[in-house]
Amino acid sequence: MKIAPSLLSADFAHLAEEVQDISRGGADLLHLDVMDGHFVPNLTFGAPVIQVLRSTTEIPFDAHLMTYHPEAYFGPLEKAGVAMISFHAEAAVHHDRLIHDIRERGIQAGLALNPGSPLSLVEEVLPILDFVLIMSVNPGFGGQKFISYTLDKIRRLRRLAEEKGNPALQIEVDGGVTSDNAGALAAAGADILVAGSAVFGKKDRAAAIAALRC
Ligand code: DX5
Ligand code: ZN
Repeated sequence: MKIAPSLLSADFAHLAEEVQDISRGGADLLHLDVMDGHFVPNLTFGAPVIQVLRSTTEIPFDAHLMTYHPEAYFGPLEKAGVAMISFHAEAAVHHDRLIHDIRERGIQAGLALNPGSPLSLVEEVLPILDFVLIMSVNPGFGGQKFISYTLDKIRRLRRLAEEKGNPALQIEVDGGVTSDNAGALAAAGADILVAGSAVFGKKDRAAAIAALRC
């Protein structure tokens, strides 16, 4: 199980120190929530901030685009040195083209799904995806409560990935992840757990990350 602390819940006045703290604490990835104030009702940071943070740690960067026109961000994020990019299936029309665009840059490609969106939105492109991000809260804010019906969606996605000939597909779960539901998420088939408040909301980040690893 990989643990990806989400920078959204970090102290924005001390970003570099926060990133170094979770790196020392054993985080596998740094999850970066890029928002546009349109697809979701919030704004965060973009490629310039991500690029500055790239030099502060060795851990791979995982960019989650909650934006319309996600393709406009691919070039700047490539330059910023991210290893993974996911965009929302609901925010784009040409999924196949965008997935190829990401992969041709040598970056892992993921499609993200809102809690209320069906798996059929990602089904056809499962063979060419590196990962699917299942939102387990409505995107836009940290610290929300886990939506429990998404557990069954993770189980069904695991089976679907095998049926579609991509058993290596990684399933990333994002929103309301805590040490209380991490075990159930692992059993359902999750490979990457994103955690904002469950890591940055705790004083001891190493202990918080260890508590999520099951
Ligand atoms: C929400 C973001 C999440 C968020 C998770 O729109 O995509 O990555 O930071 O925060 P928690 O873990 O606090 O729910
Ligand atoms: Zn996210």
